[in-house]
Amino acid sequence: MGAALASEVPDTTLFRKAMGGFAAGVTVVTTALDGRLSGTTVSAFSSLSMDPPLVLACLKRGSRTLSAVREAGVFCVNILAADQGELAYAFAKSGCDERFALAALEPGASAAPVLAGCVAAVECELHAAHDGGDHEILVGRVVSVRIDESKPPLVYVRGQFLKS
Ligand SMILES: Cc1cc2nc3c(=O)[nH]c(=O)nc-3n(C[C@H](O)[C@H](O)[C@H](O)COP(=O)(O)O)c2cc1C
Repeated sequence: MGAALASEVPDTTLFRKAMGGFAAGVTVVTTALDGRLSGTTVSAFSSLSMDPPLVLACLKRGSRTLSAVREAGVFCVNILAADQGELAYAFAKSGCDERFALAALEPGASAAPVLAGCVAAVECELHAAHDGGDHEILVGRVVSVRIDESKPPLVYVRGQFLKS
């Protein structure tokens, strides 16, 4: 590597910086429990299996949304469009209920809210939850998918959203 910074046992800052170079899409993972909506911004999301259709999302321990998903057993991964950066920041504030007022909601396959204006919404039933250090790895079995290919996706890299 050229002008490289390296360390054998990566310190947190270097590890964070290295991972920041991995450009990622941005999602809002939502759920509903007894009528109360929860949601949080998540970039640690990936498809996992085609047959059966599975996805995974990593939520940090202590996340209110994580507890709500575990109890509700359903969640929706709303894949944000390039013009939804504000929504991403709003949903990164823990326990802020007003954030759902920022987006119109669409009816979905389960109680988990589907946010309007996203490039895709992937609705899931909770299939498994695995240990992931200070995060938990939620595996969702996909029950419904919708897409809107008219807009580019939001991309997060090196601590900021890519200008489109
Ligand atoms: C661009 C971006 C990506 C994020 N990705 C994740 C992630 O993958 N997993 C996670 O647990 N938190 C992630 N966060 C932080 C959470 O959104 C934040 O901790 C939030 O306060 C948790 O809310 P909750 O406790 O209401 O669930 C991200 C934040 C931003 C701005």
